[in-house]
Amino acid sequence: MSLCVVGSINADLTVNVGRHPTPGETLMGSGGGITAGGKGANQAVAAAKLGTPVVLVGAVGADANAEPATALLRDAGVDLAHVEDVEDVTGLAVITVAAGGENTVLVVPGANALVGAELVQRHAAAIEAAELVLLQGEIPADGFARAVELARGRVVVNLAPVVDVPREALLRADPLMANEHEAGLVLQQLGLDGAGTPEELARRLLDAGFASVVLTLGSAGALVASGGELTHIESPNVDAVDTVGAGDAFAGAFCHRLLAGDSMVDAARFACRVGAFSVTRPGAQPSYPSAADTLPSV
Ligand code: RIB
Repeated sequence: MSLCVVGSINADLTVNVGRHPTPGETLMGSGGGITAGGKGANQAVAAAKLGTPVVLVGAVGADANAEPATALLRDAGVDLAHVEDVEDVTGLAVITVAAGGENTVLVVPGANALVGAELVQRHAAAIEAAELVLLQGEIPADGFARAVELARGRVVVNLAPVVDVPREALLRADPLMANEHEAGLVLQQLGLDGAGTPEELARRLLDAGFASVVLTLGSAGALVASGGELTHIESPNVDAVDTVGAGDAFAGAFCHRLLAGDSMVDAARFACRVGAFSVTRPGAQPSYPSAADTLPSV
């Protein structure tokens, strides 16, 4: 029951602000600490903390941020034998978190930009052996495409951010996991209308050729679209303090439960609870529950 994540590893530099700055404005903030992030690493940690064996394929740089970026991956027991040390800086995300938890994220890819087809190929055995391969949009498109080609098991794609990846590789996603905004961009990338309700977006993505689609809707829960059927999942009502990495918590938890044999609807129900848990605490990986934690309920 193994999960292989092929994706990014970042150091998150987070500043808390009363509100987000506008261009040209200087604001005072608080915090300024570095914590572990990156969508690939976040999703790997989310699944591993819940008990799934996880292998991560990725890269970190030869700088001081490599250590804090990988600390929680190690703590969670993620297999880092396929994370390469490269001559670059470790990926860096500069994050502002405003009152109410809303955030902005700027990413400097650094070492993640080297997770292309060549690097991915060097770790072919890990990808081929996985029952499920989980991908995001923070590595080069040719690395993404090579990982999909190598995958023998199920492929789950959370194309965040939405980047241009080969159509045939993207359509292997089962499910494609996206928020509403990303779903619209994926549709546009496929030459289709990207506007509409979540239900319309999900149906259009199924019509475009995806076997299944999971739309994450923040505090409104999630929508699972599979086999022509749409199921809305509610999220527990919580007081959000920081939404950074909540989508990653959802993705990791969702894959954890798929590998345990859950249906997509049941996996999404559990993942909504994990996402809700994560927004009640600061940071991405530091906010994720372990199997022993009590999750909020609907
Ligand atoms: O999804 C949240 C993540 O996006 C952050 O941890 C940051 O590193 C960026 O990759």
